[in-house]
Amino acid sequence: MAHGDLDGKVALITGGAGGIGQALTRAFTARGMRVGICDIVHDTAQTLARELGPERALAVAADVSDPAACARAVDAVAARFGDLHVLVNNAGLGMSLVRRDHMDGKIQIEDVSIELWQRFLATNAGGAFFMAKAAVPRFRRQRWGRIINVTTSFFTMLRGGFAPYGPAKAALEAWSASLAKELAGSGITVNVVVPGGPANTPMVPVESFPDRGALVRPERMAPPMLYLCGEAGGAVTGRPALRRRGLGFGVARRGRRSGRRRADRLARSGAESGLAGRPAEGRLKRYSAARVSA
Ligand SMILES: NC(=O)c1ccc[n+]([C@@H]2O[C@H](COP(=O)([O-])OP(=O)(O)OC[C@H]3O[C@@H](n4cnc5c(N)ncnc54)[C@H](O)[C@@H]3O)[C@@H](O)[C@H]2O)c1
Repeated sequence: MAHGDLDGKVALITGGAGGIGQALTRAFTARGMRVGICDIVHDTAQTLARELGPERALAVAADVSDPAACARAVDAVAARFGDLHVLVNNAGLGMSLVRRDHMDGKIQIEDVSIELWQRFLATNAGGAFFMAKAAVPRFRRQRWGRIINVTTSFFTMLRGGFAPYGPAKAALEAWSASLAKELAGSGITVNVVVPGGPANTPMVPVESFPDRGALVRPERMAPPMLYLCGEAGGAVTGRPALRRRGLGFGVARRGRRSGRRRADRLARSGAESGLAGRPAEGRLKRYSAARVSA
């Protein structure tokens, strides 16, 4: 069964074996896309790839903090499916790596080793850069590409006791804005998608969030991403999409009126693809040229 402009598109999803990554992989393949499931946890990626079948999925073992491994992963997915159209930088380390009970007592600078700081920066920010370095030359040649980076709320970026996770995501977000401008007019878009709250994945500790039903379902990340992957999504770059409680996703508006009108229109036109409702606003503040966010 054909699924319109997404049919046959090839995506590489990092962190594809994790909670959000698996949900994205299932949603993308259900829409006719083919997915390279890239993760450091290879056995889970392989199990998912086997379940989805070789026509739709390929498990690729890679540590995104290793630039050479990123280049190999991009080549492997393009070689298997003949092309690459979409890069989703979703792999990430969570604060449980610093301390499992990080939600219950504020982590101090003394708790964060230099090695951990470097590892978070190399994975949560560097990984997206290394992957894009490998993918952009392909995207430029075909004058078409989508880069979607998964960051976090503005609150988490600046929250006390959430380093190095928050600062690494802030770096990723700032770089996303800058890359979107560099690539403007090239046919390659760069956007950010955020769950808009703690999501029900292994990254969020059960001890601190026992009521799993109250958390964001990882599947909720798929509609805005699918929208961005499609032809209509080509009009959107340098924007975050964040979930509004109970209202689906909104594309955050820019400060200028023209940007705001465009974001309004996009949010309305995306209603069927899950980008429902009006743009996120209210508690949103200007954060960078591209992000007007939580
Ligand atoms: N869960 C949340 O509440 C939440 C909120 C905001 C943002 N996010 C972001 O969403 C993304 C997905 O997280 P999740 O909630 O699915 O967590 P998760 O822990 O289930 O998934 C993260 C995945 O990234 C992989 N990974 C970690 N380091 C890697 C590396 N060096 N190379 C390759 N893969 C690596 C892990 O093996 C895992 O499969 C992350 O970037 C996370 O920061 C999550």
